[in-house]
Amino acid sequence: MRTKIILLVLLSAVLAACGGAKSKVLIVYYSQSGNTRAVAEQIYEKFGGDLHEITLATPYPADEGATIEVAQKQRDENILPALGGASENVNIADYDVVFLGTPIWFGTASLPMLAFVGAHDFDGKTVIPFYTCGGGDAGAYISDITPHMAGAVIFPAFGNNRAERTAGTHTAKIAAHLDQLAF
Ligand SMILES: Cc1cc2nc3c(=O)[nH]c(=O)nc-3n(C[C@H](O)[C@H](O)[C@H](O)COP(=O)(O)O)c2cc1C
Repeated sequence: MRTKIILLVLLSAVLAACGGAKSKVLIVYYSQSGNTRAVAEQIYEKFGGDLHEITLATPYPADEGATIEVAQKQRDENILPALGGASENVNIADYDVVFLGTPIWFGTASLPMLAFVGAHDFDGKTVIPFYTCGGGDAGAYISDITPHMAGAVIFPAFGNNRAERTAGTHTAKIAAHLDQLAF
């Protein structure tokens, strides 16, 4: 009997060590016209976890041209938009891995994403940035969020651009990237 109990205890210890705890995943994104949301949903379908769309106290206009005008003025005046309450209160401490998704605005992360990153603590987290853009690329997205990520491990960014969306290759491109992600 005693030997059986010792064996059972040993077996559960080995199983616990081998199994490892599954990482808790949070997917945070901002999206004005839906492109970044589509990538966030693709990530969610593959890895599950919690999905959080960044909201603002005062949303930008629906029209892209009008948004560019408002956001350009905020950039010129060094203003970040105020987050909506739920986005302020996301508890990053509850997660191990945080996917961070943003459209590229003016060659870097959108102002809502910069506001979110500045309002939260990523110490000890694995951060996996993603983006969508027009004709450009990730630009200064990573170098601009890095100062707010002390103690985090930041993965290379991945995303898609307008040409890829027009060609219809964007979903497969993201899927291929997700397939080789190990965290
Ligand atoms: C304010 C603003 C600035 C933008 N600046 C850039 C840019 O610098 N480079 C780029 O490639 N695309 C730029 N775009 C295009 C968006 O990055 C692109 O349409 C993106 O896929 C939109 O994502 P969403 O649908 O998730 O909002 C900008 C769009 C807006 C509204």
